Amino acid sequence: MSYKGIIVTGGAGFIGSNFVHFVSREHPEIKIVVLDKLTYAGNKKNLEGANCELVVGDIANKGDVEKAYQKLLEITNNANNEDLAIVHYAAESHNDNSLRNPEPFIFTNLVGTYRLLEICREYNLRFHHISTDEVYGDLELDDPNKFEPETPYQPSSPYSSTKAGSDLLVRAWVRSFGIKATISNCSNNYGPYQYIEKFIPRQVTNIISGIKPKLYGEGKNVRDWIHTEDHSSAVWTILEKGKIGETYLIGTGTAPGTKNEKGGEKNNKEVIETILEIMGHNKDDYEFVKDRPGHDMRYAIDASKLMNELGWQPKYTDFKKGLQQTIDWYQANQDWWKSEKDSVEAFYAKNGQ
Ligand code: NAD
Ligand code: DAU
Repeated sequence: MSYKGIIVTGGAGFIGSNFVHFVSREHPEIKIVVLDKLTYAGNKKNLEGANCELVVGDIANKGDVEKAYQKLLEITNNANNEDLAIVHYAAESHNDNSLRNPEPFIFTNLVGTYRLLEICREYNLRFHHISTDEVYGDLELDDPNKFEPETPYQPSSPYSSTKAGSDLLVRAWVRSFGIKATISNCSNNYGPYQYIEKFIPRQVTNIISGIKPKLYGEGKNVRDWIHTEDHSSAVWTILEKGKIGETYLIGTGTAPGTKNEKGGEKNNKEVIETILEIMGHNKDDYEFVKDRPGHDMRYAIDASKLMNELGWQPKYTDFKKGLQQTIDWYQANQDWWKSEKDSVEAFYAKNGQ
């Protein structure tokens, strides 16, 4: 499948903007409209250098969604609807925020996804829904199983439950209305342009700012890290070769018992120590803070379906190298995050974190 134009929702956020840069670079002939509300997590600067049109608007607002579609028709010279797609990244994405105020998560993640599905139904547009491994709940540290596309949904937080709900809407719209949709559930991303509330950029910018990194609970929780550039290439592979109605898990690891079963799995303590080491500090120069309520213990993705059926492979298999590049980016782009740092830390401090 090839496309003449795509709408990228949430394209001014972390993963969405990395995807927009990826498509601009790898497929310059494809026209891109970014539909983004520019919440605290969205930043126009993330799109500098990318070839795209930004429509500032809310995915939960029918008129804004229609405006983005009309803009796509305009810049593709009225391309046929079968040559157009919506790639849906926009979301309220931070668990800690969802624990304090779930409301925007309901509107953006559920109502917003509904609006996009409806416009796809009206114009017969291809839809790809970006979701998360968190919909599957969590695993024990010693659980021999990993998440697979068929793993039952068991989300823990307001964030992950709204993502799970949005996945179910997509599945229902495929079955009931014949929407041409696919879903991907990816593990934790790292890389440039990630808002500094999230674990890795928070600790990197803490160290640059002379603040001790903060580890929740005992630091034993495991996340399955993937570089955001690999997430982009995986999504592109699904758009090109994915089977309508299917769910693909995106991660760097394979099935239990196979050579690459560990993938990007690392506990938070290991990640903080690696960051400190790369940045030339003592490995134990961090502090423990209050844990997150309902904190998921471990995520682990088996991405064999994507690898075996669609032939995708990750490129960033050396976590330390990818982390080094990410740290370099935050060091070189202090203007991008400095003005937000105090307010993000003040917000966490209020919560003992
Ligand atoms: P982010 O918070 O960095 O960016 C979200 C973007 O969506 C922002 O640009 C924001 O302005 C925009 N947005 C929010 N509400 C909107 C609305 N109502 N209308 C239009 N735009 C709106 O998020 P991210 O980390 O880049 O995550 C992107 C997607 O990937 C999300 O769907 C998330 O669930 C999913 N995901 C994230 C990760 C991760 O590790 N961060 C992993 C797997 C899946
Ligand atoms: O698994 C995919 C998910 O990864 C995405 O769906 C979410 O959008 C994304 O935010 C991320 O969720 P997490 O909750 O795993 O990410 P976060 O960066 O908030 O935290 C990662 C881990 O680090 C988690 O175990 C909590 C811990 N943590 C976090 C912060 C901010 C700390 O120990 N200290 C911190 O300061």
